[in-house]
Amino acid sequence: MAFGWRKNERANRISGERTLTACWRWHSAIANFQWRVYHSEIRSQRKIVSAERRCNVCEATARLSNQHATSVRSPDPTIAAAVDVRIMTSRWTRKDLLGLRELTAEEINFVLDTTDAFKQVGTREIKKVPALRGKTLVNFFVEPSTRTRTSFELAAFRLSADVINISATTSSLTKGETLKDTARNLEALQADIIVLRHSSAGAPQFLASRLKASVINAGDGAHEHPTQALLDLYTIRERRGKIAGLHVAIIGDILFSRVARSNIFGLLKLGARVTLVGPSTLVPREFEKLGAEVSHKIEDVLSTADVVNLLRIQHERQRREYFPGLGEYIRLFGLTKERAKLLKPDCLIMHPGPINRGVEIDSEVADGLQSVILDQVTNGLAVRMAVLYLCGGIAT
Ligand code: CP
Repeated sequence: MAFGWRKNERANRISGERTLTACWRWHSAIANFQWRVYHSEIRSQRKIVSAERRCNVCEATARLSNQHATSVRSPDPTIAAAVDVRIMTSRWTRKDLLGLRELTAEEINFVLDTTDAFKQVGTREIKKVPALRGKTLVNFFVEPSTRTRTSFELAAFRLSADVINISATTSSLTKGETLKDTARNLEALQADIIVLRHSSAGAPQFLASRLKASVINAGDGAHEHPTQALLDLYTIRERRGKIAGLHVAIIGDILFSRVARSNIFGLLKLGARVTLVGPSTLVPREFEKLGAEVSHKIEDVLSTADVVNLLRIQHERQRREYFPGLGEYIRLFGLTKERAKLLKPDCLIMHPGPINRGVEIDSEVADGLQSVILDQVTNGLAVRMAVLYLCGGIAT
């Protein structure tokens, strides 16, 4: 045998154990693995010396080293999960996801690769895996949300976690309880993962440094919206096959946009060229310090863009007028049908939602062939499954 066993050891093979886990080391898909555990027997003492798994999708076979295999106690399906967690955690060590600013390019790519696996789960008849069985997730949304809240909830269901939804109006925040006290009470109820959307930048960071539970930022003020940027990156990579070298134009209210900030960090780390487009009041030159280019004329950018990402005007965060009126904004920066003709035929049109049709984008353009807006929403589910799986695994 190839495992370097001593001559007097008798090798036994026990086959047939199966596990449902990700095959990202070989073809990035969740798959049923056929496990084979090899053990030796010396004077009736059993010792597992190696394990081998075979993916039933790509048929890749992987052997785990003696070091891993000796920690395996019995050849039942749980060993697979145990050993897989080792493989997984060797590349992901964060209990929280607070922003893309602090992630390395390798970590971002790892989340995107893991997303491939969870996207494949969504194509099955039974779209559920037991990865977070027994864990409790609290969806704590202090600001309104449609896409992010529902996709985190659905992601948690698909990972078999228990889910509780809390909103600002239905929580004791309205009675004056602080965010920290609310979160500590949730942790006292043994919440393992808290997904937080908050109007204050830094709120997720504040909780993450005080709680053992995993904290996922679902958008904090104008700071970051990491899972939105991850699903945007995933959609670009899925459609264009790469991110490095692409020219991405982010158009609209950059100043108040957490989506823009997370996208800028992620895109630049993965090697894209980023141009921010909008009126100078909403796209100040300070953004050039992050490594992005700035333009105040949309026509200069559209013809060279591989991706345009439209952002809505965030009236809820603006405390004064940043342009004369919506009509003026549409005239200068709206992606109208006429302007869309300047785009390359394979340029992707993206929008994080919610869309203000007829303002930042014309209805026909939003629903046209180049639009991948609903693909973004679909991919958001798989991205959030990957993030919950990775951070939830570390937290526990
Ligand atoms: N893109 C986004 O965050 O949408 P929601 O506000 O609906 O969650």
